[in-house]
Amino acid sequence: MSVFDSALAQIRQLHPYSPGKPVEELERELGISNAIKLASNENPLGCSPLVGEVLSRVSKQIGLYPDANAYYLKQRLAQKLGIKENQITIGNGSNDVLDLVARSFLDGNAEAVYSQYAFMVYAMVTQACGAQARVAAAQGMDTDQPYGHDLDAMLALVNDRTRLVFIANPNNPTGNWLLQAELQAFLDALPAHIAVVIDEAYFEYVDLANFPNSLHWLERYPNLIVTRTFSKIYGLAGLRIGYAVSSPELCELFNRVRQPFNGNSMALAAAKTALDDDAFVEQSRSINQQGLQQLQRGFEQRGLKYIPSAGNFLTVKFGQNSGAVYQGLLERGVIVRPVANYGLPDFLRISVGTPVQIEQLFAALDAIS
Ligand SMILES: Cc1ncc(COP(=O)(O)O)c(C=O)c1O
Repeated sequence: MSVFDSALAQIRQLHPYSPGKPVEELERELGISNAIKLASNENPLGCSPLVGEVLSRVSKQIGLYPDANAYYLKQRLAQKLGIKENQITIGNGSNDVLDLVARSFLDGNAEAVYSQYAFMVYAMVTQACGAQARVAAAQGMDTDQPYGHDLDAMLALVNDRTRLVFIANPNNPTGNWLLQAELQAFLDALPAHIAVVIDEAYFEYVDLANFPNSLHWLERYPNLIVTRTFSKIYGLAGLRIGYAVSSPELCELFNRVRQPFNGNSMALAAAKTALDDDAFVEQSRSINQQGLQQLQRGFEQRGLKYIPSAGNFLTVKFGQNSGAVYQGLLERGVIVRPVANYGLPDFLRISVGTPVQIEQLFAALDAIS
């Protein structure tokens, strides 16, 4: 028996997350200088211009542990979101918080429920804890949310071993969303001892009537954990910072498993600054709405179907060509995301870029066919 074999079976069976090729590497391979990456749902505008100054100031304090920066970020989040500091759990990205939640509730005797095509980290953290995943079949093709979460099917999988439910709203990679009434009916029906994560990584992008702000439900459902991130509309993906909001009781629990200082000074200070730059957030939201429409129009003109999306990406059906289209785009300096690992081999996920980047995408696509 090797030392590898001594590792936990559930860890040995995991597949590591693959981030894809860096833009610089593709440019080097192709000998070009204008490659674009529309693969990781990043903000094409970058981040608030105010963040640079803060990073330069904080760089002079990096000999210190980051507790002061964590304190001020929590204080600002609490003011802005209308919650208390003792409800906030900081994470090194919201993935870190998802992992903390899983480790707090799941072991080899537990089950976690989530939807087919849901964000892949739910599967990863469930398996890493040795828990059983119960995956509910997604909504059918002929529904208004094709590939979306089927909350009734999810509820049907809840049993006396269920400890945790994951819901992404909107979901990645499908872009589907759940409206207030249906999600609240689900929370009402879920037994109160089962923890439920509503992952709102794309919340700030959503522009839909009756879309829920789950923070408003925290008092009513003490089993609710809402996760959000600074990686998307705030444009801080490279710094790694996200958070959960829950009851103070659950927050205290997560703080027991959380590594002390799991958010670094630069990320914490940048997040506080980014949170206050309403103009940048508004600009990002608006460019995303325009970009989504530009993408939708472009694919409709080319006779291609896509999954309706409330996020900053569109998942498009290329059928059996999807592998060739991915490769063809790559060869023309456009990186998009295959989603075969989600069980969607006919689709490619394309993040919303700037108008110029989207034109570049369509020019590359037209050059392939
Ligand atoms: C639905 C969803 N949740 C959470 C995350 C995690 O983001 P981060 O760890 O960068 O905060 C992502 C990132 O793509 C996501 O799509």
